[in-house]
Amino acid sequence: TKDWNGIDQIVLRNPQGACARVSLHGGQVSSWRNDRGEELLFTSSKAIFKPPKAIRGGIPICFPQFGNCGSLEQHGFARNKVWSVEDDPPPLHPNDSHGKSFIDLLLKPSEDDMKCWPHSFEFRLRVSLSSDGNLSLISRIRNINGKPYSFSFAYHTYFSVSDISEVRIEGLETLDYLDNLCQRERFTEQGDALTFESEVDRIYLSSPNCIAILDHERKRTYVIRKEGLPDMVVWNPWEKKSKAMVDFGDDEYKRMLCVDAAAIEKPITLKPGEEWTGRLELAVVPSTFCSDD
Ligand code: BG6
Repeated sequence: TKDWNGIDQIVLRNPQGACARVSLHGGQVSSWRNDRGEELLFTSSKAIFKPPKAIRGGIPICFPQFGNCGSLEQHGFARNKVWSVEDDPPPLHPNDSHGKSFIDLLLKPSEDDMKCWPHSFEFRLRVSLSSDGNLSLISRIRNINGKPYSFSFAYHTYFSVSDISEVRIEGLETLDYLDNLCQRERFTEQGDALTFESEVDRIYLSSPNCIAILDHERKRTYVIRKEGLPDMVVWNPWEKKSKAMVDFGDDEYKRMLCVDAAAIEKPITLKPGEEWTGRLELAVVPSTFCSDD
């Protein structure tokens, strides 16, 4: 299918009726629905679907920079580019294909990208939907430069929630975090599960590889599993910042929560020819379930 600007979108489906939509604009997952047709990701009603602007919702990819602490535009350029479909990518583990519906995308830097970030790379993204409706994203970034370089990265995931005041995150208790609202000053999380009553913009450091978002009202738990991504960003703009964003409704902060698996505090460094892999797997279950760490 095509979006409003004629940019290709790919729809993945599983036999039970779950589906996910991936846009070549940003290599961005723009929708993920369970087998009952319920949308699990948030997209703003005011989102602007026009490159070179990132879409406000779904899963934008922040690369090669997270945030604005660096020389590049906020969250890097990958989310603003048109990606291509790759028919025959280098193989992944058989478990990454078996029983799954998937698509492989590729991003290479343009001449303009090389002017602002002079490091050549091949960024391969596989998005897959499993038979049980889980969504997974696998990023492989290869340095095809003659010199080493570093980058930061995030899967900037907008979850749809019933009411932000009724939501809690489990798995980040007692961790250190950098507070984006205080020039990335370092604090330690004190409480039990994380709940929301004002703006939050934090980078939790060295987080466990499985965390959960509990949505009481909908009796739904999102389980986030990650690999290769030590940090976890938690963001809700709350009332004042929502009003300041042109592509976001004034009240929409109540129905979304961004929780991003990321590598920020310690950037990833790749030597020439080296490849890094970062994985995200999202599941929805009726109650909490985290089996590892
Ligand atoms: C979050 C950042 O991940 O993304 C916030 O922590 C930022 O600081 C937010 O405001 C949205 O960024 P953008 O560029 O998509 O408006």
